Amino acid sequence: MDETKQTFLYKDLSGEIEAKIHNGTYHPGERLPSIREFHRQRNLSISTVYQAYIALENTGLIEARPKSGYYVSPVPLNRLQTPAFEKSSSPPRKVELSLIINAVIAAVNDPEMTPFGSSSVSSELMPVKHLLRIAKTISVKDMKTLINYPLPQGNSELRRQIALRTFGIPDGVAADDIVITNGCMEAVTLCLQAVLKPGDTLAIEKPTHFGFLQYLNAMGILVAEIPTDPQYGVDVDELENVLNRSPVKACLFMPSFHNPLGSLMPDDRKEKLAGLIHRYDIPVIEDDIYGEIFYEGHQRPSSLKAFDRKDLVMTCSSFSKTLAAGSRIGWVIPGKRFREKILRLKAATTVATASLEQYIIAHFLSEGAYERHLRKLRTAVKNQLIRTALAVQKYFPEHTRLSIPKGGALLWVQLPSGADGLQLYQKALEHKISILPGVVCSADGQFTRYIRMGCGHPFTETIEKGIQTLGKLAGEAVNCRS
Ligand SMILES: Cc1ncc(COP(=O)(O)O)c(C=O)c1O
Repeated sequence: MDETKQTFLYKDLSGEIEAKIHNGTYHPGERLPSIREFHRQRNLSISTVYQAYIALENTGLIEARPKSGYYVSPVPLNRLQTPAFEKSSSPPRKVELSLIINAVIAAVNDPEMTPFGSSSVSSELMPVKHLLRIAKTISVKDMKTLINYPLPQGNSELRRQIALRTFGIPDGVAADDIVITNGCMEAVTLCLQAVLKPGDTLAIEKPTHFGFLQYLNAMGILVAEIPTDPQYGVDVDELENVLNRSPVKACLFMPSFHNPLGSLMPDDRKEKLAGLIHRYDIPVIEDDIYGEIFYEGHQRPSSLKAFDRKDLVMTCSSFSKTLAAGSRIGWVIPGKRFREKILRLKAATTVATASLEQYIIAHFLSEGAYERHLRKLRTAVKNQLIRTALAVQKYFPEHTRLSIPKGGALLWVQLPSGADGLQLYQKALEHKISILPGVVCSADGQFTRYIRMGCGHPFTETIEKGIQTLGKLAGEAVNCRS
């Protein structure tokens, strides 16, 4: 074919696709038809379609993923800027709770609010009918067993199913290596009780999940806050400096899709962290609650425990973000070193975890439905997250910073100077919108210019309007100060 004609053809095609990206027909992150599909549908040569895709790739509007195809870029990447990496760490200190924490929790859980404050994932995205169908099959005979005291360690089939889904851990994981808990929160608190007493020092990420800070405050545990990179997780070198100068007894980290940052520690960083804790012989509690909500590749990220050769990592998780937060089913893989202690603590505190919920979830998993559900959930949450990020870019004032995490359901947003996260939270409440002010995510009340936005709810007109209102309020605050 004559070269000019081919140039016209590929430019026509790339222009058409570009227009569809700009007018929203193709969604951010959506997979484009394969080169062969376009070749067949449009009667264009393979090389014409290929050239069109290369042209688009060069503009950054689409991206090629090895062995998978071409995808619309999640966002115009050149406009996104990762929130700052706040490098400061502090000597062990008591956790001071912000006075507003109770009001924040009430707002976050208020169903009347547009729910950016919440980290929950909407029940619209959960397999409600399937769970109900399982509940309806419970027989009188089953019920007679289910109303007895359950085993402190938990339903054996549920533990087997969780073990079947757990890969990459040295020595493997069997049903007997798992303890079922009341959510991830109980898993974490049992581990904390197993390794710390009041007055001891725990290394935590800065920022961290505000729920942990409340517990640590109540237990009188001191915290050494370690700076944490919004993309790559906890700063291992700084952790080493802190271990050298402070009597840290244990660590509590979220290596995969951190709350609130969304950061993911790359494998080499996880390995380095494991090496460090091996040298110092320090137990680490790993919160892996978001590990299954990954957006890249076909495999969940490795857990920190995968790099642990000395049985120092206790991995905690739950079904709260992926299936049923109200079931309160979570678990811990404590390793041989801490298993007995965790089991004793579990029996001595909450005795056991409710059996009916364990039964339903065990059945759901054994029917093979969980993986199918997770595939849909990951796509839905990823799309919500990207659409929220795009809307933040569109409506928030200039110099707002955020990045798209590789998993989880949370966006960490750095407001421009002049804006204040707590004031924005208060103003937003007047509009029935909840957000989490960043100030509650560290023991020293840093992160005043940050907010956390949850993206667990379908992206509706109400959600978009909510982001528009937040952007307007943030803009007013910036203008007022300048
Ligand atoms: C990082 C993290 N850990 C633990 C929890 C508590 O989980 P659960 O509801 O399973 O107790 C949450 C809840 O938001 C969380 O975000």
